[in-house]
Amino acid sequence: MADLRTRYMGIELKNPIIAGASNMSTDLHKLRQLEEAGVAAIVYKSLFEEQVQLENLELYERKTEYEHRHAEQVTLFPNSESVPESPDDYLLNLRKAREAVSVPLFASLNAISEEVWVEYAAKAAATGIDGLELNFYSLPDESGTDRQSIEERQIDTLSKVKAAVKIPVAVKLTPYYTNTLKFISGLDKAGADAVVIFNRLLQPDIDIFTEKHTMPYNLSSSEDNRLPLRFTGMLFGNVKASVCSSTGIYSANDAIKMILAGADAVQVVSTLYRNGVDVVKSLTEEIGKWMDGHGYADINSYRGKLSMKKSENKLPYTRAQYIDFMMNSGDIMKKYRSLS
Ligand SMILES: Cc1cc2nc3c(=O)[nH]c(=O)nc-3n(C[C@H](O)[C@H](O)[C@H](O)COP(=O)(O)O)c2cc1C
Repeated sequence: MADLRTRYMGIELKNPIIAGASNMSTDLHKLRQLEEAGVAAIVYKSLFEEQVQLENLELYERKTEYEHRHAEQVTLFPNSESVPESPDDYLLNLRKAREAVSVPLFASLNAISEEVWVEYAAKAAATGIDGLELNFYSLPDESGTDRQSIEERQIDTLSKVKAAVKIPVAVKLTPYYTNTLKFISGLDKAGADAVVIFNRLLQPDIDIFTEKHTMPYNLSSSEDNRLPLRFTGMLFGNVKASVCSSTGIYSANDAIKMILAGADAVQVVSTLYRNGVDVVKSLTEEIGKWMDGHGYADINSYRGKLSMKKSENKLPYTRAQYIDFMMNSGDIMKKYRSLS
């Protein structure tokens, strides 16, 4: 039977399937179910800077009997019906989660200011977790902030967090950098133990009947995994950091593709919501069967086989893929009935 073990940011995982950060991880029962279904590691839901700010605001209010509490709270959590858990409760629950399962558990932080990143990285590490994920969900909403300052600040944050904790630190990022590979290379040099590519950004929508904005959260689909696939393939052999592919990984096929491109591990979330946590059983079983069928004894026997570095055909990773499609699109598009 194929050996599914892999190393992810210096930690041995029994297979490459990690449950990514989501609300599931805050439920101890779900955590245990995930472990029973066979996930190799779990990322606990992010602690957000807004939770810390809200706590600070409440402390301030208690001292000053500040009158505009509600207005401030609405600004911090515009649509939240209930008051989110305090950072202390978060840390307490993180500790309980750490005790509830035996697979590696990683905490996730989403801060804005450097002090908060560093303070809560150290506090989370003190709960006994196995690693940290820095969730760099950056969405500049004005055109004045330049590329360099965003990237330098994030790399600086990583360095400071690395200096503050002894556990491995991963960075979860979006694909929207001027040169994402160059930025990841900067993170790698600053000591990132892993990169998680990519986070899925929420986008606004518009209801044309009410003429109002809506903010639906749509789970991903398998088609969404082709962007992480491209970058996974381009990173293989070029960074020291582990690469964890994420977004749109639903099936064993999707996970195998990522490993062929060069992933050390993959994160899954949407498939857990859509197909239930037991989907992890079939993911690992089918990866094992595929490996047996293809004569691969372990993950490293085929990891990166179809990366840019190892593939003879570099076309899929280059501009040439685009040009090829543009030049031949007449023929390719014939399969669509209206054009045949
Ligand atoms: C309900 C829900 C909650 C999530 N919460 C977090 C979070 O706290 N931190 C984070 O980094 N990502 C969070 N995510 C994003 C997922 O970790 C993941 O990056 C994204 O869903 C793409 O992976 P997928 O295609 O497997 O769903 C959340 C996703 C969902 C659906």
